Amino acid sequence: MGEFDMDTNAASVPARSSKLLVEHARKSFRQDSGAEISAIADLSFSVKSGEYVAIVGPTGAGKSVLLDCLLGLKFLDAGQIRVDGLPVENFVREKKGHITRIFQEDRLLPWLSATDNAAFGLQIQGVSQADRRKQAVRWLDAVGLSAFKDALPRELSGGMRQRVNIARAFAPNPELVLLDEAFSALDDVTASRLRQDFKALAQSQQTTFLIVTHSIDEAIFLANRILVFGAPARLMAEIAVPPLAWEDRVASDRIKDEVRSLIVAGARPG
Ligand SMILES: Nc1ncnc2c1ncn2[C@@H]1O[C@H](COP(=O)(O)OP(=O)(O)O)[C@@H](O)[C@H]1O
Ligand SMILES: [Mg+2]
Repeated sequence: MGEFDMDTNAASVPARSSKLLVEHARKSFRQDSGAEISAIADLSFSVKSGEYVAIVGPTGAGKSVLLDCLLGLKFLDAGQIRVDGLPVENFVREKKGHITRIFQEDRLLPWLSATDNAAFGLQIQGVSQADRRKQAVRWLDAVGLSAFKDALPRELSGGMRQRVNIARAFAPNPELVLLDEAFSALDDVTASRLRQDFKALAQSQQTTFLIVTHSIDEAIFLANRILVFGAPARLMAEIAVPPLAWEDRVASDRIKDEVRSLIVAGARPG
């Protein structure tokens, strides 16, 4: 982290139009056996403001570790992550709660109502309790849960709980939203409905999205660009998704085949 800390002068950053810049990122973990395992290996990519970028890659490719680093929860061993030209640690310190994440499994607090769960991310932004409630209720309405404001997570279906998570991720007015297999735990019908609703809500916001998914269909539906990762995390290829490619069977099949063969090529041996 050393060299990275000293260079905090945003004005000296060249790619000023990037919302997110990842440069030569490396991260490894020491296993219990003492062996070092690489999770991120010389990873570089950038995301422009307002883009929807999907990341697909084999399991264990360091995608979730990367998202932890983007939230400032884990630190790179080398390289840098910048958001709006600032080292990510500075960004998360200055703009609290402006990077949010939607997980695969809902991580709602079981003792809090849907409203209080949706309001959760607003607390660290210093929003007053009354305003937190107001904003949370507005987002619960937007995700179609008006009738379930006081429900506890256990009283909601999996799809509804994921809707609360979406409300929670949007409520703080985030600048960067990270999805980590956000729809993977749901049945097909629920997932596809939720993806459609998510996309409509996302497009009503001026936000940048990084969407980690193993579903290539989801990547084509939600993203305008797909980054194919190898394992450990490194960029194998970038594929542009033309507008409405998901509606065009030929176009989406071609993208799917291309992504699939790249994922196979980038998997760890064995
Ligand atoms: N806290 C940790 N300690 C040790 N190894 C870890 C830790 N977190 C992740 N890893 C390893 O890093 C690699 C990438 O994991 P992950 O980011 O979860 O992959 P995925 O791309 O499936 O999300 C895996 O090999 C995993 O075992
Ligand atoms: Mg993961």
